[in-house]
Formats: sequence, structure tokens, C-alpha cells
Amino acid sequence: MYIVLIGGGTGSGKTTVARKIMEELGNEKCVMLPLDNYYKDMSHVPLEERRKYNYDHPDMIEHTLIVKHVKELLSGRPIDLPEYDFAQYTRTGTTTKIYPKPILLIEGIFALYYDELRALADLKIFVDTESDERFIRRLQRDIFERGRTIESVIEQYLSTVKPMHDAYVEPTKKHADIIIPRGGYNEKAISVVVEFIQSLTSSS
Ligand code: C5P
Repeated sequence: MYIVLIGGGTGSGKTTVARKIMEELGNEKCVMLPLDNYYKDMSHVPLEERRKYNYDHPDMIEHTLIVKHVKELLSGRPIDLPEYDFAQYTRTGTTTKIYPKPILLIEGIFALYYDELRALADLKIFVDTESDERFIRRLQRDIFERGRTIESVIEQYLSTVKPMHDAYVEPTKKHADIIIPRGGYNEKAISVVVEFIQSLTSSS
């Protein structure tokens, strides 16, 4: 199994890059694990309290579970991917069976952060997009898809998202093999990555 990590800031276009790579490589060859699904389960804390946590700290992701899952997939066994509900700030309790495939894409703001995950990776990509563009995308997405208000998105961005990005996400760029500027719309960079992965995995 060929493992690709796709990191980068919130709203950088990581998911779009990952989806486009997957479309090109084909669903039968490629499977994706979003790190967002591994946010810790907070169902033991009341909803009002859950909102106050710092979701941009790497400790909020259950990274030991993702490392365990990657190892399971590497051994040829399926895993149960947890489902996460951003409006409720917790796991839903539902899981999806994910079966091993020749190429595994793992995307998330901390995809290049954890040593154990990097040690398992074959290719590390950082999606690099200007912070104003990322903020605009984040605002739209959180309001339309994650049940947030304009005020809450701005407050969260200034108090935690931006400082944590500078402290924990941006520094992971140094671990990248490839940096993709301008996010998901950089068709040429995505084609180069797809061809590279294909050239290394075409016999598997
Ligand atoms: O999809 P994206 O990479 O943007 O997801 C990461 C972001 O999700 C983090 O910046 C974090 O602030 C946000 N998040 C949130 N509420 C949660 C869990 C994560 O706003 N309950």
C-alpha cells in the first residue's frame, strides 16, 4: 500500500486536492481517510462546554487511532472509520467500513504533524494557500456546512485557528516532499502528483 499524506491549513483546499487525486487514480485503486473524522469523542461533555475547546491543537485528534487504522490497512484488514458531527462537536457513533486499497490518501491540517504517521508515509504533500483565501473559504464552509454563525467563526479564527495554524500547521511544511501552491485549483501540480503516484504504483 502506497501512503500519501496531504496537510495544509484550514480552507487551503486539501480535500479538493485529495478528491481530484482520487478521481484521477480511480476509486478501485484509492481510498481516503480524513483526519477530521478522528477528532476525539466529546459526548461526555455538555454541548456548551464542547464549543469552548481548542480544536486546532494536535491533541484534539485521536492520532493513536489513525496510526492503528493505517497499520491495520497495511496488514490487509478493513477498519471502521468514525463519523464526526461538527455541529454537535462530537462523534456520531456511526462508522464506515474502509477496505485496504493500493493507495491510501490521508488528509487533514495535522497530516504532516505526527511522527508515527509520517514514518508510515511514502509521499508527503503540503497544500499552501494564502491565509485570507483560507479564511474566506472557512467562513463560507462553516456557515453552510458546519452549522456555525459569522460571529462564532470570526471569534474562533482569531482566538485559536490562526495562532494554532502558525504554531502547529505551518511548521509542518518542512516535512513535505511537495508543496502545492494555490490549493485545489492547481491542476498542473495535481497532474504531476497523479503521474508520479501512478508511475510508482502501476504494477501493484
Ligand atoms: O476541514 P478542515 O481542515 O478545515 O478542518 C480542521 C478545522 O476544523 C480546524 O481548524 C478546527 O478549528 C475545526 N473544527 C471545528 N469544530 C470541531 C472540530 C474541528 O471548528 N468540533
